[in-house]
Amino acid sequence: MKIVLGIGGGIAAYKAAELARALLEPGHEVQVIMTQAAQEFVRPLTFAALTGRKVITGMFPAQTGGDTLASAVEHIAVATSSDLLVVAPATADLMAKFAHGLADDFLSTLYLAFTGPVVLAPAMNTNMWRHAATQRNLETLQQRGHHIVGPEEGELACGMVGPGRMSEPEKIAAAVCAVLSARRDLEGETVLVTAGPTQEPLDPVRFISNRSSGKMGYALAEAARARGAEVVLVSGPVALGPPAGVKVVRVRTAVEMREAVLAHLEWASIIVKAAAVADYHLARVPEHKMKKTAARLSVELDPTPDILAEVGRRKGGRLLVGFAAETQDLVAEARRKLVSKGCDLLVGNRVDREGVGFESDDNEVTLVSCTGEVTPLPRAPKRELADRIYDELLKLRLTIHAAR
Ligand SMILES: Cc1cc2nc3c(=O)[nH]c(=O)nc-3n(C[C@H](O)[C@H](O)[C@H](O)COP(=O)(O)O)c2cc1C
Repeated sequence: MKIVLGIGGGIAAYKAAELARALLEPGHEVQVIMTQAAQEFVRPLTFAALTGRKVITGMFPAQTGGDTLASAVEHIAVATSSDLLVVAPATADLMAKFAHGLADDFLSTLYLAFTGPVVLAPAMNTNMWRHAATQRNLETLQQRGHHIVGPEEGELACGMVGPGRMSEPEKIAAAVCAVLSARRDLEGETVLVTAGPTQEPLDPVRFISNRSSGKMGYALAEAARARGAEVVLVSGPVALGPPAGVKVVRVRTAVEMREAVLAHLEWASIIVKAAAVADYHLARVPEHKMKKTAARLSVELDPTPDILAEVGRRKGGRLLVGFAAETQDLVAEARRKLVSKGCDLLVGNRVDREGVGFESDDNEVTLVSCTGEVTPLPRAPKRELADRIYDELLKLRLTIHAAR
C-alpha cells in the first residue's frame, strides 16, 4: 500500500523516523512530507535514506528543486495515488489547519486533495492540547471520520506532566495497519444503534435511571461505521463523545427514545438495541419540584413503551439485535426475550460481575440466535465484542437466507 507520512514541527518529529521504519517493514511504500517547521527538528535526509525516496519539503518548484508541471502539481498526484495519510506528530497548528481547511503548505494542501483514510497522532504541550480551540478542532476531525491515535499521558519534553505525548511509533503503525486492513463487510448497510440509559423524571429536578454507561452501544456504533455502514446512534444521557462519522440523536426518556427509533425504522437495515431503557416511568410528571415533608412518599409508576417488542413486530426483513441485562438465568432469559420480542439475535449480558457489564470497558456476553445457537463470548474489550456480534449477525443472515 502507498502511505503518505506527514511530519509536523514538534519535538516528537524524531520519533517519525521509527514510524517510517515500522511502516516500511510490512512492505508499504512510504512518501514523507515534512512541513517547514518539521525541518527545524529533523533533517529530510534521514527520511530520504530510510524510505529511499525524495522527501517533499515544500509547495513550489523553487522550494522543491523541481521545475516541471508534474512537480508543480505534485500535491494532487500524491493525493490521488496514495492509500492512507498518517500525520505524526500532528501539531496543534496542523490540526487547526486541517479542521478549518487551510492550504498554505504542501501537507495541508495535500490533506484537502486526499479522499482516503486519515490517521493523526497529535503531540503537543498539555495546555495546548487542553485548549478549547484544539479540542474543538479535534472534535471536527473526529466527526470527519479521521482516526486519532493518542496523545498519551506522561512527562513531556517541556517538563509538564499530562496528556500531550505522541503515541509510540509501534502503536501508530498498528493503527495504520488496522485501518488499511479494516473489513468493509457492512458497506451499504444502514445501522441504527441505541445506547445508554434513559432518565425518567419524577419532577423537574429528579429522575429514575440506571447504571448503563453507553459504552457497549457506542462501541457497536463505532464498529459498524468502521466496517463501512452508515450509522445513526440514538443515545440516552451518557458522558461519551460522539463516535467518528456517526450521526448521534440525543434523547432523555424512553418515550423520546421510542420516537427517535421509529423515525429511523424505515431507513435502517440492521437495528441494534443496546440501550438500557427504563421499564417504568411517571406518566404525569408534576410541573414543580416535590417538597420534602416528614410523611412517607409513594409514587405510582407506569410501564414505559416496549420499544424492542414494537420494533420486533414492525421490522419486516430487517435484522434486529436485542440486549438482555440479567443477574441470573442468563441463557433462559435471553431465549425468552428473543422469542417474545421478535429478535434475530439476543445478547445476554451478566451485569452482576466485577469488571464486566455496566460502566466497564470489558464485557462478557452470550449470544442466543433465532436458529437456536448459543455462543458464549469470553471477556474482551467492548469494541472487540462489538465486532464479534456483527460477525455472528452476518453469519446468521446467511443461514436465515439459506433457509428461505
Ligand atoms: C522547541 C519547540 C518545540 C515545539 N513542539 C511542539 C509540539 O510538540 N507540538 C506542537 O503542536 N507545536 C510545537 N511547537 C510549535 C510548532 O513548531 C509551531 O506551532 C509550528 O508553527 C508548527 O508548524 P507545522 O504545524 O506546520 O509543522 C514547538 C516549537 C518549538 C520551538
